[in-house]
Amino acid sequence: MKLWGGRFSKGAAKLLDEFNASIMFDKELYIEDIEGSIAHSQMLAEQGIITQDEADKIKEGLLKIKKEIENDEFIWDISDEDLHMAIEKRLIELIGDTGKKLHTARSRNDQVAVDFRRWSLKRNLEIAQKIKELIETFVNIAKEHKNTLLPGMTHLQHAQPISFAYHMLAYANMFKRDYERFIESYKRNNKNPLGCAALAGTPHPIDRNKTTKALGFDEPTVNCLDTVSDRDFALELLFNISMLMMHASRISEELIIWSTSEFGFITLSDEYSTGSSIMPQKKNPDVPELIRGKTGRVYGNLVALLTVMKGLPLAYNKDTQEDKEGVFDSVKTALISVTILNEALKTMTVNKDKMYAACKKGHLTATDLADYLVNKGIPFREAHHITGRAVALAEEKGVDLSDLSIDELKSIDERIGDDVDLSLENSMNSRKSLGATAPERVEEQIRYFENFLKEN
Ligand code: ARG
Repeated sequence: MKLWGGRFSKGAAKLLDEFNASIMFDKELYIEDIEGSIAHSQMLAEQGIITQDEADKIKEGLLKIKKEIENDEFIWDISDEDLHMAIEKRLIELIGDTGKKLHTARSRNDQVAVDFRRWSLKRNLEIAQKIKELIETFVNIAKEHKNTLLPGMTHLQHAQPISFAYHMLAYANMFKRDYERFIESYKRNNKNPLGCAALAGTPHPIDRNKTTKALGFDEPTVNCLDTVSDRDFALELLFNISMLMMHASRISEELIIWSTSEFGFITLSDEYSTGSSIMPQKKNPDVPELIRGKTGRVYGNLVALLTVMKGLPLAYNKDTQEDKEGVFDSVKTALISVTILNEALKTMTVNKDKMYAACKKGHLTATDLADYLVNKGIPFREAHHITGRAVALAEEKGVDLSDLSIDELKSIDERIGDDVDLSLENSMNSRKSLGATAPERVEEQIRYFENFLKEN
């Protein structure tokens, strides 16, 4: 007999059980469910709705169930439908009729809302912590490579020399925004759904502030009708993960490109590379490729839940049961992806020579010559044209612009003087504007992130 079976004269079809049940996956929420029930029954006792003795018995039974689950002794039976009913049924088995009082002034609608919300809130913090570790790695790499020249690109074409540190700090910024999003979502959603009951509240003299405090929420939610069907907290988590994975996928793409024989800027460590089953010489970047691939799955989970929610009338609808698997999957994916990305970065080798050699291709300091001419009073458009001729001369001689002699440069235009410096180093070092690639600006950015890591 189902816990809700009173009005039914026939048992549920086996097919219905299979289709309707969420117990196979919502058991993930068992800690939150048990903690929620303990807080609820203690509040019921304090409000005189049940006795303290009854609340104590309920607590004892629930803690026993927690142990059973953790020791793999708990029987997960599909006919119990979901974890809430399975635990309540077991509680009644263990402590008898007192167990039947637990669900007073509560519905599964606020129960699942509180369980899933608390589970999601915790994961916001857990993922945020992982992101901080990743940012620390970018900062550590940056500290080593303030003077390591790398061809900065636009359109994946060589553009201007930058430092590898600067490039790493670009990612530190992206992941810092991700960190902030997870923390902000935590703060916005840290409100207690418990006590909303089915949709309209309850006539029992409950105190929602008490369960709010016991469960570590900042405050109770305001409107019960909204609360029982609100899954914004889960959608935000899915969006935050999507954005995080998009950033992880971008650096992954660069790691893949950089580790090709054509680029050779980095070498991934053996520990985080894979081989080929047929080609003995191969070393493949499976880690960043999988991160890039898993990003697609994570986007799918976000779009799936947005779509589940978009047509739901107020308040709870069973459609909402479809909210969990995608979130569990995305959280698991994000945690392992960020962790392994961090390890891959920590263990990669940076091939400075290859980066430097690449900077010598594509006349990266052409803008510097134009800027030099502008400082000599030549209008920028004209300077641009003169520089174009210098590039043509370098091409003709088969050298990089930065390797033309002063005399060769002077032959292009007599206003070019002895003070011209088209070296890669000078190009990078002279870009001192706020947020730029010069080593002192990069040091500033490193300090900014060190402060961030200290304060968060
Ligand atoms: N297993 C359900 C879910 O995940 C719990 C809530 C069920 N509530 C209900 N009124 N049927 O959504």
